[in-house]
Amino acid sequence: MSQPVRAMAPNDGGMGFQPMRLRLAILASGSGTNLQAVLDQIAEGKLAADVAVVISNNSDSQALERARKVGIEAVHWSEKKAGSPAQFSSGLLEMLQHHRIDLVVLAGYMKLVPIEVVRAFHGRIINIHPALLPKYGGPGFYGMRVHEAVIAAGEKQSGATVHFVDAEYDHGSVLMQREVPVLPNDTPATLRDRILAVEHELLPAAIAEFAAKYWQRPKSQEMHP
Ligand code: GRF
Repeated sequence: MSQPVRAMAPNDGGMGFQPMRLRLAILASGSGTNLQAVLDQIAEGKLAADVAVVISNNSDSQALERARKVGIEAVHWSEKKAGSPAQFSSGLLEMLQHHRIDLVVLAGYMKLVPIEVVRAFHGRIINIHPALLPKYGGPGFYGMRVHEAVIAAGEKQSGATVHFVDAEYDHGSVLMQREVPVLPNDTPATLRDRILAVEHELLPAAIAEFAAKYWQRPKSQEMHP
């Protein structure tokens, strides 16, 4: 008699096989609300991923605090701390490899990722940007400047974009994008807040999209009935 067929759910740890979970490194420079949105979705069981490490170039970043609060390794790592760009790059790469990272997520990371890291993690680094790329992206378009430029240009729509990272700021192909209306009496701050709320949904959704469409599960994590 043949064995009964068992339904396989990716996160059913009780079925005798390894659940499929992405291992994430999150790089952030500022307040870390996008990191928090990812942590919350993981905690609520809505996102099959684990944040293995949070890395910030800014020792005062709230992202580091948010990670420590829930027992996630939080590392302050900058060129200044490393001593040179080359040591910064090799140290970052070592950390990502040590934590067996599947996907690097830039969530408000204000620095360019070193080319060695971009090459080693080709197609496995994403960034969130608070505009509809390719508009209002690239050098100079960061923080409030993005929203100031959108309003000054009289745009009716802005939004948020998650894209793959290459060697240029805000440049790689788009993974997911969501539109947000610009309202007649918006200030840069009100527009930022409306977009940020959308980012908090978009980033976890984009991570799930990456897992579903682009991630080749390592052999060690393949599911067996
Ligand atoms: C977000 O608007 C993100 O799109 C941009 O930087 C901001 C980071 O916000 N790259 P937070 O640190 O996640 O609160």
